[in-house]
Amino acid sequence: MKHEHLGFDYQLMQPEELSAEDLALVEQAKEATFTSYSPYSHFRVGAALRMENGEVFCGSNQENASFTTGLCAERTAIFYATAKCPDMPVTVIAIAARGQDGDFTQEPISPCGACRQVLAEIEHRADKPMRLLLYSQSGIIVMNSVGNLLPLQFNGDSL
Ligand code: THU
Repeated sequence: MKHEHLGFDYQLMQPEELSAEDLALVEQAKEATFTSYSPYSHFRVGAALRMENGEVFCGSNQENASFTTGLCAERTAIFYATAKCPDMPVTVIAIAARGQDGDFTQEPISPCGACRQVLAEIEHRADKPMRLLLYSQSGIIVMNSVGNLLPLQFNGDSL
């Protein structure tokens, strides 16, 4: 038997430690929470992503009375972006959320499993790392690759 280990590093930063570009993207993700349609969960999520050409696309979670048909903020934003710019790598995605009290979360929220699969596909398609910024009131988690969130991922190479 062989034991293997999978792990990754990330940073926890304060807003003033981010580059001006990253900070601006985080602000856009926070702003996007105000376009959330979440009458059922009252959990408002915003995502903002920057493409390699500098363009920024934002999205928010869009819920539905038929619960399972709603869509997370990350997938709303990234499908919008890749539909507009099919071959443009996404360099960084920022995510923020406000809870039922209306305030931004105390701790960062991380993309759900379905969003991880979609983000990983788009990173793999571009063959370039997509950085991740997870905002919260207590700090911002910064990761160098969304692939870190999905070790042993299933992707096009698996077929
Ligand atoms: N949600 C997101 O938009 N992104 C996440 O990363 C986690 C969850 C949404 C889905 C649903 O509208 C609400 O948050 C509560 O789960």
